[in-house]
Amino acid sequence: MAWDAQTYGSRWSEIYDGLPWPGPHQAVDFLAKLAEGGPALELAIGTGRIAVPLVERGVEVHGLDSSDEMIGKLREKEGGENIPVTKADISNFTVDQEFSLAFLVLNTIYALQSQEEQLSCFVSAAAALKPGGHFVVEAFMPDPTRFRRNSWTQVHDMGLDHVLIEADRHDPSTQQILEQHIHLKQGSVELFPAFLRYVWPSEMDLMARLAGMRLVERFGGWAGEPFNARSGNVVSVFRRDAS
Ligand SMILES: C[S@@+](CC[C@H](N)C(=O)[O-])C[C@H]1O[C@@H](n2cnc3c(N)ncnc32)[C@H](O)[C@@H]1O
Repeated sequence: MAWDAQTYGSRWSEIYDGLPWPGPHQAVDFLAKLAEGGPALELAIGTGRIAVPLVERGVEVHGLDSSDEMIGKLREKEGGENIPVTKADISNFTVDQEFSLAFLVLNTIYALQSQEEQLSCFVSAAAALKPGGHFVVEAFMPDPTRFRRNSWTQVHDMGLDHVLIEADRHDPSTQQILEQHIHLKQGSVELFPAFLRYVWPSEMDLMARLAGMRLVERFGGWAGEPFNARSGNVVSVFRRDAS
């Protein structure tokens, strides 16, 4: 299967904003406090689900994304047309100014397909920060126990004329998951794939150390929930070293 930095946007952009994502307000509160006046850089800004309300909170936000389709959807939104966005691959990027905050949310660190690309993303993010600036990464907590013989299927939604099924295949040796979200309707089948490499929190901490950052806080969610064995989500805050 050929999966690259454009695939997610080309397959998901038309339905993305209609998906049942959690409301952005807790994330925006969390990020606005850390921005300390900004500017802030969102890696993989997408359609601006977080960036648009963060700008409304008074934070100057810049964005990076690899997908013309996702950036196009951002541009159609009120408040999205003026956010400076650069088309770039977050696995290796440079910016021409320093930020007090960089953030990468909604599991998108996992969109990078190898440990090497993920580490390179941490290195690029650290280089975009002022000394003492913060890098926030939010992702689901990996749970290999949900797979039986490395497969998993679930019915997410169904009615008389449709069913939405997710079928996943897991490779524990590479920490990769291929997801297929299958929409069956009367007379049609649509496939929405996602291919990801999950990262353990401890592995992220090492990537941060190698990039010249350190973990300063870790939560189980945007409301500051404790991170523990029951956490389904991980919000990690790294700080760039002073020198
Ligand atoms: C799940 S969406 C998240 C968008 C947004 N951050 C949000 O919270 O709604 C993933 C985004 O990552 C972008 N993306 C995936 N791989 C990328 C890469 N290698 N470089 C830059 N952007 C990438 C996609 O185009 C898409 O906009």
